[in-house]
Amino acid sequence: MKHSTLSTPLSRALLTLFLLSTPTLSSILPRTGSDPYSCHSNHFPGPLNPSFEEPALKSWTVVSGTAFGPLSSSSESTYWGGPFQKVGTNFLWGITQAGESVVGVLHSSTFKASNVMSFLIGGGYDPSNLYVGLQLVSTSAILLKQTATNDEAMIRIVWDTREWAGQQVRVVVVDNSTAESWGHVNVDDVRTGCDALGDAGLHFNVLGQNNQIEEKDSGLSAEELFALDPIRPQFHYTPYQGWINDPAGLVQWEGRHQLFSQFNPDEPLWGPMHWSHADSPDAVHWRELPVALYPPPTSNPADNSGRFTGSAVVDNSTGALHLIFTDFTNIDANPGAVAETVISASSTDGTTFAYSPKNPLIARPPPGSSNAFRDPKVFWDKNDETWKMVVGSGEGDKGRVQLYVAKDEALLSWEYVSVVAEGDGSTGNIWECPNMFPIDDKWVLFYGGDALGFYEVGSYNGTNFVSEKMGLLDAGPDSYAMQWYVDDAGRNLAITWMGNWPTSKWPSRINGWAGAQSVTRELFLRDDGGLGSKPIAEVANLASGPVQNLGKKNVHGTIKVGSTNTARLQLEVDLKASNAPAFTTFLYQSKAESVVLKYNFGNRTLTLDTTSAGYGQAGTWSAVIAAPKNDVLTLDILIDRSSVEIFAGDGTAMTATVFPRYQESTDIKIEAVGGKAAFNSIKLTPFGSTWKA
Ligand SMILES: *[C@@H]1O[C@H](CO)[C@@H](O)[C@H](O)[C@H]1NC(C)=O
Ligand SMILES: *[C@@H]1O[C@H](CO)[C@@H](O)[C@H](O)[C@H]1NC(C)=O
Ligand SMILES: *[C@@H]1O[C@H](CO)[C@@H](O)[C@H](O)[C@H]1NC(C)=O
Ligand SMILES: *[C@@H]1O[C@H](CO)[C@@H](O)[C@H](O)[C@H]1NC(C)=O
Repeated sequence: MKHSTLSTPLSRALLTLFLLSTPTLSSILPRTGSDPYSCHSNHFPGPLNPSFEEPALKSWTVVSGTAFGPLSSSSESTYWGGPFQKVGTNFLWGITQAGESVVGVLHSSTFKASNVMSFLIGGGYDPSNLYVGLQLVSTSAILLKQTATNDEAMIRIVWDTREWAGQQVRVVVVDNSTAESWGHVNVDDVRTGCDALGDAGLHFNVLGQNNQIEEKDSGLSAEELFALDPIRPQFHYTPYQGWINDPAGLVQWEGRHQLFSQFNPDEPLWGPMHWSHADSPDAVHWRELPVALYPPPTSNPADNSGRFTGSAVVDNSTGALHLIFTDFTNIDANPGAVAETVISASSTDGTTFAYSPKNPLIARPPPGSSNAFRDPKVFWDKNDETWKMVVGSGEGDKGRVQLYVAKDEALLSWEYVSVVAEGDGSTGNIWECPNMFPIDDKWVLFYGGDALGFYEVGSYNGTNFVSEKMGLLDAGPDSYAMQWYVDDAGRNLAITWMGNWPTSKWPSRINGWAGAQSVTRELFLRDDGGLGSKPIAEVANLASGPVQNLGKKNVHGTIKVGSTNTARLQLEVDLKASNAPAFTTFLYQSKAESVVLKYNFGNRTLTLDTTSAGYGQAGTWSAVIAAPKNDVLTLDILIDRSSVEIFAGDGTAMTATVFPRYQESTDIKIEAVGGKAAFNSIKLTPFGSTWKA
C-alpha cells in the first residue's frame, strides 16, 4: 500500500538525539495516586498567559519570522477532523496568523522551572522544524523538545523537569517548516507543578518522546520496555519506534508462524517501505527478528521507493522461506522505471533474505491495470493443481484482481491468466491486498477497497470467481489490509492492520510509533454463508492470571466488572431471559471518558461509540448481529491499552484504536436500564505481554 504525504526523513540517529535528556526508569513510570515527580516541592508559577486566554499572544514574544502574531490566538473549537481538544476558550493555532509555509519563533515569558510541567501540542510531525521546546535562559540551550502528530487535535505532553528546578527557563515554540501541508504547530495550556499531572483527581497518561527509553542499550527486555508506554498495546505486535501498516508474508515455516509488516523505521509516518519481521510458536507470542527487507539504497530524500506488501510460501525443494511481493519504484525520482513489479526474495535461515536473480518475476502490469498492480498473494489452486497468484489492481472506476499461474516449481516463472474478479465501482477503483482461498466447499476472495475490507464468498473454477455473498471483513474503523494463511493444523488464519488510511489520527506518534497488528484470527463460514472471524484459540495463552467469572447475573442498573486495560472480556447473554431494551458495556472508563459498546435487543444492533474516548478518532460504528440459534449472544472483547477488538458469536468483528487521556480510564462496567440484561456468564481474564516467544 500507498500513501501520499511525505515529510523529511529522520534517521534513527536523529531520533536518538531527540532524547536530549535520558529519562530514568523511575521518572517515566507513571504511578496512579502516587507522585513520582514530587510535584509539591519546587512548585513555581509557569509562564504568563499560559493557556493563551488573554488575547493577541499577550506576554508571549515573537522572536523571529512571520508564523506567529496577534492572529495566532484562536477561539475555534473544531476543525474538519473533530475538536481541537483545547483547554479554555483560546489556544495557539499555528496557521491563523500567516498560513502553513511561513516560519517563526515564539517565546513565553521566563519562569523558574518546577519539578514537572505539561502542555498541549498539535499540528505537524517534524521533530527538527516543528516543536515546543524548553530553553534554559542562562545558556539558551534547548533542554527538551516535542513535535506533534500531523493532526490539529492537541495531545498532553508531560515533562520531568526536576533536573532544572529553580532555574530560569522559557517555552519556545518553533515553526521552521516551510511545508505547505502540516507546516505548523498548535499549543495550549502550559502547566507547572502538580497541576501539570492531571485534572480533578485524574492523572494524565505520561506521553511524549522524552518519556521513551532508547531501545538499544536499555538493558530491558521487550516485555519490560513495551510495558512502559501507557498507550502501547501489550499483546499486539507494534514497532518500538517508527510506523507499520499491512501485515505480509504470513506463513507457518519450520513450525513457527511468520509475521512481516510494512515498516518505516525512521519515523512514525508512512515512508520508504521495509519489511519488519517477527515469529511465533503459537501465533500470539511474538519474537522480533531483524528487518527482513530494505528499500533500494538512494541518495535522493524524495525517493520513497520500497518493498510493498506480498506473500510467503515454503519452497519444499530447498526448505527456503520464499517471499513474493511488490517492488515499488517512485517514478518521479526514477524516470522511465515501472512503478509496481513483482519480485521475490528467499531465506534458508529465516533472517537473511536474498533477492532472486530472476527478478523481476513480473516486469510490468498486465493490460487493464492502469490504477495499480500490487500485493501479490500466492495460493494453491486445487481446481487444476497449480500455484496461482492474485494481484490487486484497478481500471477506470473499478477495482479488480489479476490472476497468474506458476510455470515452474520454484515459483519464479509466472504466466498471466485473466481478470479473476472485478468490482462494480462501489468498492473503490483499486482493490488492494487480495487474498483467495477455499473454505469448506466455497472459495473466498477478500480485498481492501475504498479504505474498507470486503469479502466475497462464492465459487471459483480456476479462472473465474463468481460471488454469492458479500460483506465487510470488520465493522469497525481500524482494520485494513487483512492477510490470510493456512497453518500446519489446516486452520484458515488472518491478521489485519489495526489502522486505516482515512484517519489522520495517530496519537501514538507523540511517543514515536504508529500502527499495530490485530491478534491472529481464525476465519470460518458463518451460518448465513458470509465470512466470519474469531480470535485464534491460542489467545488463551495470553492469560496472565486466573479468569474472574461473575457467573450467572441479572444486571439492572450498573455493575462494575473490573479495572484493567489489558484483558479479555467474554460475555454470554441470555436473550430470552433479558427484558431491557439494551445493555451497554463501558470500557476504558473514568469519570472523564469511556468507550461505549451498546447492544440493542430489539434490532440486534451492536454500536461502538468512541466519541468521548480520549485522543484519537471519534465516531460510532454499528453492525447487526445474526440471531443466535440457541438464543445466547456471545461477545469476546480484547482490550489492549489503545485498542479494542470485538468478536460477536456470529462472526462479526469490530476493531478500533482508542487512546485514553487519563491513567484512571480502565474501568469496565455493564449497564442495563429499563429492565434486566440476563448474563449466563461475565468473564474477565487479565492478559499479559506478547513478547514472550
Ligand atoms: C531553520 O532552518 C534553517 C535552514 O534549515 C536553519 O539554518 C535554521 O538554523 C533553522 N532555525 C531554527 C530556529 O531551527
Ligand atoms: C510444501 O509441502 C507442504 C506439505 O506437504 C504443502 O502443504 C505445500 O503446499 C508445499 N508447498 C509448495 C510450494 O509446494
Ligand atoms: C470458468 O468459468 C468461466 C465463466 O463461466 C468460463 O468461461 C471458463 O471456461 C471456466 N473455466 C473452466 C476451467 O472451467
Ligand atoms: C436499533 O434500535 C435502537 C433503539 O430503538 C435505535 O436507536 C437504533 O438506531 C436502531 N439501529 C438500527 C440499525 O436500526
